[in-house]
Amino acid sequence: MHADIVVLPGDGIGPEIVAATLPVLQAVAARHGHEFRFTEHDIGGIAIDRHGVPLPDATLAAARTADAVLLGAVGGPKWSDPKAKVRPEQGLLAIRKALGLFANLRPVKPHAAALDASPIKPELLQDVDIVVVRELTGGIYFGDKTRSDTDATDLCRYSVAEVERVVRRAATLARTRRGHLTSVDKANVLETSRLWRDVTTRVMRDEFADVTLEHQLVDSMAMHLLSKPRAYDVIVTENMFGDILTDEASMLAGSLGLLASASLGEGKVGIYEPIHGSAPDIAGRGIANPYATILSAAMLLRHSLGLEAEAASIEAAVSAALDARVFTADLAPAGQAVDTTQAAQAVIDRLR
Ligand code: IPM
Ligand code: MG
Repeated sequence: MHADIVVLPGDGIGPEIVAATLPVLQAVAARHGHEFRFTEHDIGGIAIDRHGVPLPDATLAAARTADAVLLGAVGGPKWSDPKAKVRPEQGLLAIRKALGLFANLRPVKPHAAALDASPIKPELLQDVDIVVVRELTGGIYFGDKTRSDTDATDLCRYSVAEVERVVRRAATLARTRRGHLTSVDKANVLETSRLWRDVTTRVMRDEFADVTLEHQLVDSMAMHLLSKPRAYDVIVTENMFGDILTDEASMLAGSLGLLASASLGEGKVGIYEPIHGSAPDIAGRGIANPYATILSAAMLLRHSLGLEAEAASIEAAVSAALDARVFTADLAPAGQAVDTTQAAQAVIDRLR
């Protein structure tokens, strides 16, 4: 098949992990007789530097007509002045919103070889297999903001329809897995959470009687995620809770550098990006872990292009590279790390 893939390297380690991932996609294309066309555009800090805005019109226009978008990371100290009018992160939020990508899938499945990299006891990590479905275009991230000399506000708003669609997406996914959905909110305090809980309960009762539903408050969820991660299958939650809980969940996998994501809407186009940030502290050194981006590319093949076998072949190759202990510095014992390019090459070498 032919596919147009828009590539948004962004800032910090973004360009390095994306550059390492494209050859993996090319190798898959060559082996399976596909043709992927990559078109690169600016987003984030680099876009501010070059165009004055974090999401240039040309970037959004290209993304709208693409089959899928592969993104590195945005942000960095250069653009982090609290007084700055524009920030790189606004570009990321704006493109998610503009493309209507309301469901952000973040799988968490600790790999056996990386178990000792996790601060959690290995016996707790055995058989952990979670997908967090984070609502991505609503909530406090997108509500009105105000700022004066003496105070500031961020409005958190959710509509019934926004909750319904993300819960349906998560429940549909749970149905193909172990049939268990955990909805996370703060219904003992927040009105938006009470709406979330009501809508979730109704949708699940009326449409997903075959999927079991459990409600958790976000504070206790933060604890259970580490104390009994095996108890969870699909977790659905609002935007900010999902942001926080998935960084926490990455510790189950041993490194933030292993967690991929897919941001999906009603259509085919999605944004695929690692859940980690631009890691300015290690940027430019070629040592970043490319696996999360490579695994995001696998999700791209699966969800936007419908290439399940190809997606699975990338995932198996990453798994094999981890089995062979091809680790970047975030996972390796001192002195035994490979660099970004070597890690990506190890994946290519193990593609079926
Ligand atoms: C993420 C990131 C972003 C978010 C930032 C960079 C705006 O933390 O994708 O998890 O908060 O959504
Ligand atoms: Mg985050």
